[in-house]
Amino acid sequence: MRSWLKHAALLAYGRFRALRREPVRFRGAFTSFDEAVAHVRPGLLAGYDHDAVTEVSRELMQHVPLWDYPILYWLKRLAPEITRVVDAGGHIGVKYRAFAPYLDLDRIDWIVYDLPALVAAGRAQVRTGERTLSFVERIEEAPAADVLLASGLLPYLDVPLVDLVRRLRAPPRHILLNKVVTRDGPTVVTLENFGVAEVPYQIRNVDEIPAALKTLGYDIIDTWVIDSLAHRIQTHPELGRSTYRGYVARRCGAAPGTASANET
Ligand SMILES: C[S@@+](CC[C@H](N)C(=O)[O-])C[C@H]1O[C@@H](n2cnc3c(N)ncnc32)[C@H](O)[C@@H]1O
Repeated sequence: MRSWLKHAALLAYGRFRALRREPVRFRGAFTSFDEAVAHVRPGLLAGYDHDAVTEVSRELMQHVPLWDYPILYWLKRLAPEITRVVDAGGHIGVKYRAFAPYLDLDRIDWIVYDLPALVAAGRAQVRTGERTLSFVERIEEAPAADVLLASGLLPYLDVPLVDLVRRLRAPPRHILLNKVVTRDGPTVVTLENFGVAEVPYQIRNVDEIPAALKTLGYDIIDTWVIDSLAHRIQTHPELGRSTYRGYVARRCGAAPGTASANET
């Protein structure tokens, strides 16, 4: 009874906030990306792939917040066997720049795969000395790599992870995922407020990514939860708090030190 009352109160409060149209970070709960896009407010851009959106949080993402350290730890630990990284959802090269003080990036080819507006901005903003940083608009254009990094991509990715990984030229030995947003119930797509845009944002059922990695033939060898990023959809608080997770997965049966990049 108490939990039913709490649910009803949260539901009423959320809908009240939605009706007031006050600016919130997350609004709406939809069953698909397409449905979310159809609800973007008139006058706002829809989705990430726009020049104006390339500026949003750009400086912030070029730093190393606490939740990036598991990724940095694994990149450092795997460094002796890494010659190439595909950074899917790598924006304008933000993590290449953020991680540069900690990794020997002179010897790691770092290929950012992202949407056309981000790739164009990234290419235009390459700095002197960043000779190992490059960009592709189609993941199949990236050469075979030892590591697929997807940091912060999964909430925005509009295709299944399995499909994305299968488009790579060769399966990487390791897949590193960070900021995967999950919940216990069914997957929900909300809209994130970027000021100039509203961007579909996927909160996945917690079993989805482990199942996708298994289908792809990977074992999860490390996983973590980023408590400080947990949030509710302000207009739908009754759906509960989301949990941000990270995963490191290794291809089953790949012998240590066998770099996939040498396979093609
Ligand atoms: C929050 S940013 C992540 C930036 C950085 N990797 C980080 O961890 O801070 C999400 C990125 O995913 C990209 N993205 C969204 N949908 C994508 C898609 N279908 N294919 C490739 N990149 C996509 C966006 O353009 C954006 O650069």
